[in-house]
Amino acid sequence: METANLKKLFLEKFGGNPENIRVFSSSGRVNLIGEHTDYSGGYVFPAALSMGTVIVARARNDGIIRMMSTDLDVLAEGSVKDLQSYKNLEWGNYQFGVADELIKAGYPVSGADMLYHDTLPHGAGLSASAAIEVATALALLSLSGVKDIDKIELAKISQLAENRYIGVNCGIMDQFASAMGKKNHAIFLRCKDLSYKLVPLELGDYKIVISNTNKKHSLASSKYNERRSECEQGFDILKQAFPDAECLGDISYSDYKNHESLISNPIIKKRIEHVISENDRVLKSIDALNSGNLDLFGKFMNASHVSLRDLYEVSCHELDVLVDEALKIDGVISSRMTGAGFGGCTVSLVHKAATDLFVKNVGKAYKEKIGYDATFYISETGDGAKEII
Ligand code: GLA
Repeated sequence: METANLKKLFLEKFGGNPENIRVFSSSGRVNLIGEHTDYSGGYVFPAALSMGTVIVARARNDGIIRMMSTDLDVLAEGSVKDLQSYKNLEWGNYQFGVADELIKAGYPVSGADMLYHDTLPHGAGLSASAAIEVATALALLSLSGVKDIDKIELAKISQLAENRYIGVNCGIMDQFASAMGKKNHAIFLRCKDLSYKLVPLELGDYKIVISNTNKKHSLASSKYNERRSECEQGFDILKQAFPDAECLGDISYSDYKNHESLISNPIIKKRIEHVISENDRVLKSIDALNSGNLDLFGKFMNASHVSLRDLYEVSCHELDVLVDEALKIDGVISSRMTGAGFGGCTVSLVHKAATDLFVKNVGKAYKEKIGYDATFYISETGDGAKEII
């Protein structure tokens, strides 16, 4: 929906006149490689998408936050004085969580009327919730008169909201990509210290195709927290050999291989092998991309999927079918699950001449094997958090 139409809709829903209406947006993300490494201080390589959240908003000065959505018949209303009361809302809880964390961090939140327009599928592992959080943080702060907003701070506040208010123990990748993304770039991020580099995504004749299993993934109820704790257990053991390491992300693959016998539990060993080898793949894949070797970059993506499937065990039948069918098509360099797993989406690099065939063949095989349709997006990268002037 065009910004002008969204503004019209805002006035229909909230009344008042068109002055002082402002528009903010933030994006979803697709992670190209570096999966389940962020919460152990490792490396990730996500790109912000052109799909995300747009908020049309107007400041209030009474501490009231009122929110509506273009695709849900809902009004979420609350006061900044009472922010603990909205945790169980079906819609609006993420936004109130952000307001809560902003205030806890010492920022002013003066109140706002906000209309949300989401263009990302929810529960698909493309960080629709991070887009909502980051856009909300930017809107609330801007409307409260805060200038020179630090976007990394927006990402941190948003992650805290998800960790503490929503109760999902996610890492920083999604919120960071949502806040800091740049069109035609991916972000090479070291999660340990948030040092990062925007890397131009020069894919030549290749497109990023996202395939959605349409199997909803749920981070909170999935094995996400279990995996985190397995990583912590593994790191505790490895510390004997690496007393200076602050996180798994500090341990190189070759160093790990010299000491892997320290870990006797086979499950923990598989998890650690995934995380440390995945960090190694991220570093090598970025070298490959920088030297224009897309085939090699794709090989690391494919190896990432195998590792997530067999060692980290966060894939599922639906994701594996999408990946296997994708790799049967001429012109497909790579395909892997993206995001937390257990459902959600895959990301594939597909020659532009093969995208139609990809959608047709993978779609047909998926329907036959799974019984319902997958959805496909030829995705465009986009900018992270910004005000649309
Ligand atoms: C989810 C989390 C991220 C990250 C990924 C897996 O998207 O929100 O922090 O852990 O899973 O890479």
